[in-house]
Amino acid sequence: MFNHSKLEKNSILMLIGILIVVSIGGIVEIAPLFYLESTIEKVQGMRPYTPLELVGRNIYIREGCYNCHSQMIRPFRDENERYGHYSLAAESMYDHPFQWGSKRTGPDLARVGGKYSDDWHREHMAAPRGVVPESVMPGYPFLMDNPVKVSDIADHLTANRRVGVPYTDDMIAAAAADMVAQVDPDGDGAEALVKRYPKAQVRDFDGRPGTPSEMDALIAYLQMLGTLVDFSAYKAQENLR
Ligand code: HEC
Repeated sequence: MFNHSKLEKNSILMLIGILIVVSIGGIVEIAPLFYLESTIEKVQGMRPYTPLELVGRNIYIREGCYNCHSQMIRPFRDENERYGHYSLAAESMYDHPFQWGSKRTGPDLARVGGKYSDDWHREHMAAPRGVVPESVMPGYPFLMDNPVKVSDIADHLTANRRVGVPYTDDMIAAAAADMVAQVDPDGDGAEALVKRYPKAQVRDFDGRPGTPSEMDALIAYLQMLGTLVDFSAYKAQENLR
């Protein structure tokens, strides 16, 4: 029988013992990850961002929206009742970097898509207190007057592809055209865009026809958040339990 008091009185021996025990725990947790192909459960409906949505996302990051907004609904009852189904890992698998966030000065935005009209977003973005008097959110009226940069969109898609987003050659070649097509429902490109990006919403988001503005891009992004996965199947499953 090993004399435990020896271990307790000799700090070096104790340290070695601790290291052995801790590393067993570590190996048990880490080793399987090397053999699993993916730790993200596949879900139906996820697709890469359309070029316009991707630009909207870049603006979201540029303007620091994540300083006040999270995009991760946690699996707690209060959050599910307020925001909807808790976020799945697959829902942010094309996000580089992810936007989960840890600060909620404003509400979580993971499922804000479809909650408000484009008009509401446009007015709220330009002057939040015009819509929600007690809001502390800053206004971003200048987005309306900034046209989106079309020339480098293909590079943005390529960069995302390098880190694992499955953009095809076809998507990259059509990126600039797709970006303009998403704000022009009567144009020729809309059909091809929706084929490449199922469930893409095609309309004039900022209410001003013509070249897409940064407002178009940001609203297109906000309106798609949380709309890709069809949760009715998941809900039915949960009700069975
Ligand atoms: C200083 C913190 C702050 C920043 C920065 C901020 N917001 Fe907000 N946001 C809020 C607060 C607080 C609310 C809740 C009151 C309101 O609706 O204005 C809000 C509400 C919202 C809503 C409505 C959400 C809902 O479910 O009602 C949207 C959409 C939104 N913000 C988008 C953005 C975007 C996009 C940006 C970046 C361009 C941004 N916010 C930057 C604080 C912020």
